[in-house]
Amino acid sequence: MKVLLIGSGGREHALAWKLAQSPQLTELYAAPGNPGIADHATLVAVNVEDNAAVVAFCKDNTIDFIVVGPEAPLVAGLSDALRAAGFAVFGPSAAAAQLEGSKGFTKDICARYDIPTGAYQRFNNGPKAKAYIREQGAPIVVKADGLAAGKGVTVAMTVDEALAAVDDCFEGAFGAAGAEVVVEAYLDGEEASFFCLSDGTHALALATAQDHKRVGEGDTGPNTGGMGAYSPAPVMTPEMVERTMKEIIEPTMRGMAESGHPFSGVFFAGLMITAKGPELIEYNVRFGDPECQVLMMRLKSDLLPILYATATGTLDKVTAEWSDDPALTVVMASKGYPASYDKNTPIKSIPDAGEGAKVFHAGTALKDGALVATGGRVLNVTATGKTVGEAQSHAYALLDKVEWDNGFCRRDIGWQAINREKA
Ligand code: AMP
Ligand code: GLY
Repeated sequence: MKVLLIGSGGREHALAWKLAQSPQLTELYAAPGNPGIADHATLVAVNVEDNAAVVAFCKDNTIDFIVVGPEAPLVAGLSDALRAAGFAVFGPSAAAAQLEGSKGFTKDICARYDIPTGAYQRFNNGPKAKAYIREQGAPIVVKADGLAAGKGVTVAMTVDEALAAVDDCFEGAFGAAGAEVVVEAYLDGEEASFFCLSDGTHALALATAQDHKRVGEGDTGPNTGGMGAYSPAPVMTPEMVERTMKEIIEPTMRGMAESGHPFSGVFFAGLMITAKGPELIEYNVRFGDPECQVLMMRLKSDLLPILYATATGTLDKVTAEWSDDPALTVVMASKGYPASYDKNTPIKSIPDAGEGAKVFHAGTALKDGALVATGGRVLNVTATGKTVGEAQSHAYALLDKVEWDNGFCRRDIGWQAINREKA
């Protein structure tokens, strides 16, 4: 099978690495890819923001299957354009990608299908949102409706903080994403991420993970795209997984099908495990980054037929086997991230990972033949172990051999699970 992978982050490096191991693969292309992905795929310069250009590339190169990594091309309708041209695609339609693209859309599905989530209201103006916040009191959560690169959410501990967040949204801090605001009840509990494939009719539960969104140790400081993750998430017991499937995933699939937009792709459900059980915080419609990196380390099955079955409505014919060993990834980011940072800083060397470990590339590039850091999140040092503690020691031992002066990382990735292991 000739496969085109869309994207250029650590998530896509992990997908490329795993796809490249498939006996069914004849050729892997990646657009735009990165220097890590180049070890497994031919990089192509087609503009992934131009749906027609991607379709033309797939026709010219007789591509059999396209795997879309990030959310932006999904929301922009790349899967629709490819499907209309007759291609098999892993990734939802633009209409189904609304589950990630619009928080209000998802909340309305939850309300209609009785899916457990925080009580909420949608607003398109400041005064009404503020009146609701004053009525509800704090803590309370204010969210820009649209895609805001993970930055549009304020978990406000005071009413004043919530009111200020409403002003930020309507004054344009998140651009068009903030034209509508969702105000939602604060959920108390432990967060977990749950990944589940859907072909529109059948579901295949994958695995669980926990990430670290804050930039600073002890989960402090501003939110980021994710500074590290591990899988599985201990809070997601088999009972919680079963309840998540029944109470959250299955009604969502039914809701999407009944609305005429069956969901084909991966559900990345952000959950809060509260005293009542799993509650939905949000959906993403693609693999998490860096959660995908730990999932791919643990997946024993061939990824390609699983993704292809998702795209072709035959998910009931495949299974996914997982290693019991936990995997953990530490993100190395450019100093200054998530605020501004220097670009094109030299990465002098990346060690050989050895068995049970892998350094995935995110924001890297080659400049005059030398590896440089071009992004905020740059490398994902990923390792496995018999426990999360062992996986953590393994990952940091490898990370300490990376020679990159402008890089930093958190030193406490996995702390919640490790505290549990010690207890
Ligand atoms: P989101 O972009 O919706 O995932 O929100 C980002 C982060 O804000 C989540 O990972 C949670 O840590 C937090 N958050 C979002 N909604 C809530 C909520 N209703 N209650 C508590 N925390 C929340
Ligand atoms: N790591 C969180 C995300 O991919 O959205």
